[in-house]
Amino acid sequence: MNSSADLLARMKRHLAPSLARDWPNLPVAEARGSELVTVDGQRYLDFTSGMAVTNVGHNHPEVVSAARRQLGQLIHGAVGVVVFESLVNLAEQLPGIMPGGKDMFFFAVSGSDAVEGSLKLARHVTGRPGILAFTGGFHGRTLGAVAITTSKPKYRARYEPLMSGVYLAPFAYCYRCPYYQEPARCSLECVEGVKRLLRQVVLPSEIAAMVVEPILGEGGYVVPPHGFLAGLREICDEHGILLIFDEIQTGFGRTGDWFASQTFGVTPDILAVAKSIASGFPLSAVCASRELMDRWPPGAHGTTFGGNAVAAAAAVATLAVMQRERLPQRAGEVGGRALQRLRALAARSEFIGDVRGAGLMIGLEFVEPGRDRHPNGACAWKVRKRCLEQGLLLYGCGLEEHVIRFIPPLTVSESELDQGLDILERAVLAP
Ligand SMILES: Cc1ncc(COP(=O)(O)O)c(C=O)c1O
Repeated sequence: MNSSADLLARMKRHLAPSLARDWPNLPVAEARGSELVTVDGQRYLDFTSGMAVTNVGHNHPEVVSAARRQLGQLIHGAVGVVVFESLVNLAEQLPGIMPGGKDMFFFAVSGSDAVEGSLKLARHVTGRPGILAFTGGFHGRTLGAVAITTSKPKYRARYEPLMSGVYLAPFAYCYRCPYYQEPARCSLECVEGVKRLLRQVVLPSEIAAMVVEPILGEGGYVVPPHGFLAGLREICDEHGILLIFDEIQTGFGRTGDWFASQTFGVTPDILAVAKSIASGFPLSAVCASRELMDRWPPGAHGTTFGGNAVAAAAAVATLAVMQRERLPQRAGEVGGRALQRLRALAARSEFIGDVRGAGLMIGLEFVEPGRDRHPNGACAWKVRKRCLEQGLLLYGCGLEEHVIRFIPPLTVSESELDQGLDILERAVLAP
């Protein structure tokens, strides 16, 4: 077995720096449930869930055996050229958990891929060019997805010109309201702002779709007020604009429901999902109604690897575990307890300005004491490093990397959760 130093040196020689210089590059040999084990035998609690992917935990035995079974039968068959059971099974099960009658799916590989497909579907069926997106959103790194990504400028720098026809409106970030409102006086100026944009900048009849993350992920784990998404839905209905929810990070139980759209009671026309759908096998989907999908003719979009047979078998097993263990509901319950404890911690620390979340998708926003809500990326970074030293892996987000994402697997045990919270608490309160 390689030592960690050896593995890191070999990686740095051959992996592109755009990935290899990320943090912390833990040299992992194996993983199970909430835990990662390094090549040197050190154990870490993974409260990044492989970046919101391993909602049923790493290497869930039922997912492993479903994938093994499928490996023995068929690894790949280009969908359309052939058809196979695991993918059809998945497509038959998804409508049961989807918001609002999504019963047809275009299966793809990555999150970006699902976003691209959603944008293409919207443009194709409406015949309109425009896409309205929201500042702070992260939708992926391919050229279409990055054109609607504004969580940080580095994702777009030196890639211009990007896809045209994109219009941006401010996301409802209440802790840093773009309209300088306070929650007590708020009259959803963010929704008014979208209406104004559609009066002043671009005609609604030019807009194919609005695309939004129901809770900002990379942009800082920002939970909008309830009226925001409902307001967008109303505008879309009034003008024949399709509403796309990017639930690539919020999906599959994370927010306490199967999807955040159910948490907010707002139904999109198109749903883009990926990440946790198959517990780490690359799989994503554009989800819509048959009525909409039937207007996307053969050849208008396609894929070689999308809907891979092994990934689909893993997804069917993942959904079965989630359903049997009622993981969305558990995320709501366990997440509520974690949120309470983290809010109590914030009350004791002058460095935490805001704690927010839904289910087990929680963000802690770090600020500089005495400077009104000034983002404190340095402090968030220090806390993450201290946590790692104590065996807890956490990841950041937000414009200044001043927010810590707290996203353990939905299967996290009570004692693992307490252990993680204890480590985080000590790291925040350390002088
Ligand atoms: C909300 C959201 N959309 C899209 C993506 C892009 O997914 P991928 O990295 O699989 O292309 C991500 C990835 O982090 C995401 O969080």
